[in-house]
Amino acid sequence: MDRTRLATATMLGKLIVATWLASIAQANELTQKQQEDAAFIEQLIGQMTLEEKAGQLTQLGMQNTPTGPVIDTKGRETIGISQAGSLIGVHGAENTRRLQREAVQGSRLHIPLLFSFDVIHGFRTIFPVPLAEASAWDPDLSQRTARAAAIEATASGLHWTFAPMVDIARDPRWGRVVEGAGEDPFLGAALATARVRGFSGEGPPATSTILSTAKHFVAYGAAEGGRDYNISDLSERTLEETYLTPFRAAVEAGVDTIMPGFNEVDSMPMHANQKLLRHKLREDWGFQGIVISDYTGIKELMAHGVASTPRDTARLALTATVDIDMVGGDYAAELPALVRSGQLPQNALDGAVRRVLQTKQRLGLFDDPYRYSDPVRETTQMSSPQTRALAREAAQKSIVLLKNKDALLPLPKNLRKLVVMGALANDAVSTLGAWSGNGRAEESITVLEGIKRAVSPSSEIVYIPAASPDSPDTPGIDVVQRAVVDADVIVAALGETADMSGEARSRTSLDLPGAQDALLRSLIKTGKPVVVILMNGRPLAVPTLDEHIPAIIEAWFLGSEMGNAVADVLFGDVNPSGRLPITFPRTVGQVPIYFSHKNTGRPTSQTDPYTLKYIDSLTTPLYPFGHGLSYTTFTYSAPRLSKQRLTFDETLNVQVDVHNSGQRAGEETVQLYLRQNVASITRPVRVLRGFAKVMLAPGESKTVSFLLGQDDWALLNHDLLRSVESGTFTVFVGGSSATDNQAKFEITNDAQLAGPGSAIPRTLRDSSLR
Ligand code: NOJ
Repeated sequence: MDRTRLATATMLGKLIVATWLASIAQANELTQKQQEDAAFIEQLIGQMTLEEKAGQLTQLGMQNTPTGPVIDTKGRETIGISQAGSLIGVHGAENTRRLQREAVQGSRLHIPLLFSFDVIHGFRTIFPVPLAEASAWDPDLSQRTARAAAIEATASGLHWTFAPMVDIARDPRWGRVVEGAGEDPFLGAALATARVRGFSGEGPPATSTILSTAKHFVAYGAAEGGRDYNISDLSERTLEETYLTPFRAAVEAGVDTIMPGFNEVDSMPMHANQKLLRHKLREDWGFQGIVISDYTGIKELMAHGVASTPRDTARLALTATVDIDMVGGDYAAELPALVRSGQLPQNALDGAVRRVLQTKQRLGLFDDPYRYSDPVRETTQMSSPQTRALAREAAQKSIVLLKNKDALLPLPKNLRKLVVMGALANDAVSTLGAWSGNGRAEESITVLEGIKRAVSPSSEIVYIPAASPDSPDTPGIDVVQRAVVDADVIVAALGETADMSGEARSRTSLDLPGAQDALLRSLIKTGKPVVVILMNGRPLAVPTLDEHIPAIIEAWFLGSEMGNAVADVLFGDVNPSGRLPITFPRTVGQVPIYFSHKNTGRPTSQTDPYTLKYIDSLTTPLYPFGHGLSYTTFTYSAPRLSKQRLTFDETLNVQVDVHNSGQRAGEETVQLYLRQNVASITRPVRVLRGFAKVMLAPGESKTVSFLLGQDDWALLNHDLLRSVESGTFTVFVGGSSATDNQAKFEITNDAQLAGPGSAIPRTLRDSSLR
């Protein structure tokens, strides 16, 4: 809005604003510019009608493929684009420019729109799905891919992404496990921090800054039975120690907006949850940004059974400090009446409007509403060679080598005949994974294509789709036998199609779907060397695969450069270095299964039946958290500690020598876990407290150091107060959560620590992870 137009504000309004600003300025020592900006916003709010305010708190849905039920949205009837505060689902420099013009020119106060979109793992160039990228255990990489996604998305006129999704997920039946960083809050917090920073970049007013959103606050990933949208029923301790941690990290990293989950916690739907939104997020943590509802999440308060009318839903959500109503329309329709009738205080409405307007101001949209909508930038900054190279690097680093019996991999490039099998090998859409933004299947490299590009010209590649995840049609064993009779090796892509994970994609089974199990059994019978490339958005329970297939690559959905990256690993141009960010069960019946479980009074014993176990399965996972092989091998020294005994506030240096004992250069992910052996409450058998990546030439050794401090050994005591309890601790350092490489130390005194709830562990504050 043109600042001069504000001259029409009434004298009385100006006086009130001036007095208010003077007091704020005095208290906070605002700069001249900040005072002017604040005055601008207050004068604008002073001029707005209740309807205009409700409009600013309304997001209209414009997408062709809605991500929720298509409802008869009252808001769409009540307000048009020029009255709305933001839109979801449009992009494109020309498009956004046109719509922005409609808003700026078509509204009385000329307030610009915010354009938002789900840029989850890339915009046009698609990076690995977040669960895959988490396998790289590389915050720097995640920061760079988020930055690249921000550059492309903002070049297409977007101001705002609904990412990173930071939900901890311990139930692979839940399809949205694909969108997050896996099961662990420490790794999750490190990657949340990195991605928030990446989206922000230099920060406003740079036009490559995209607003980030930490979602889905909170414990959406704890959906009962793994059924998406279900309730979460968990203790306050679990909430604090596990589910809130990555959100806390995102807030500390400066995340711009927060989205509540569709779930309830302790019988209160998150969209009405004052305890967690108003008190925890805003008051305790000091979050000052926007809280945006999830898609129709406010309206859904009626189905939850805590509201009986749209008016109730709007009152409950705004009171919980949900600022923007995504698509549902209840704010647009009900907020003015709620304020007029005194059921909602005017300042609650104004607070939300202020946060929205301040965000627009921070992005410089009041000075130039079109600054993100630049067609030249859009053509020059999309899908650049550098971004494609980054996508390939990210894809390479996200690959986890699960098994490699007798060093079958890497394969030579001059094979005489290689048979590629499985419909997924040539599925360009699945290559991109769920939530693939504005990515184009025709620009993605499939596994088949990647293999064809990599092998030597003399090699014969035969492709047989054979079996698909979404069809029961099985190839006969004779067909498979005939096809592979003179093959040197078979590479089979097995798993799920991309649309089997993501929102509303829960499964009861973690088996290979469709006819793939039959194909697998036929492949085993061929007696040929078989490499399986797994493509999937969740852990799969594949014990038959593990038992009979010599080489297994977990490739997830790796995005635009998937095929090239898979071939890089298959043929040894890249030595795989990914590590699982989530436990793989043997069977769905083991779920939930995660490494930081409790010991219990009857820990699993091979000999005693009356211990923690099943009669029909082992209790151990198929592949543990942190697992991942390399084409070389690493050995570890025992951990060396700077002290054996220390007071609660001292720091402990833990060092370990890592040696490359194999024949190739390789990168190891050194993981540090901690256990308090006895405390006043039970503690997990181990928690992750540090990780570091180290590149080693054959025969080379390097010393890796971790610095631990009070936040690392602090616990929440029985009253949920943060404290340190004296006693012995075991520190484990190794290449997965199953490592037994350990040392012990003792904390000699007890202490109460300041600060609410659980803290971000010290190692996350360490600059090496930033
Ligand atoms: C619903 C999803 O839960 C959320 O993650 C997403 O951002 C919105 N739809 C908008 O697409």
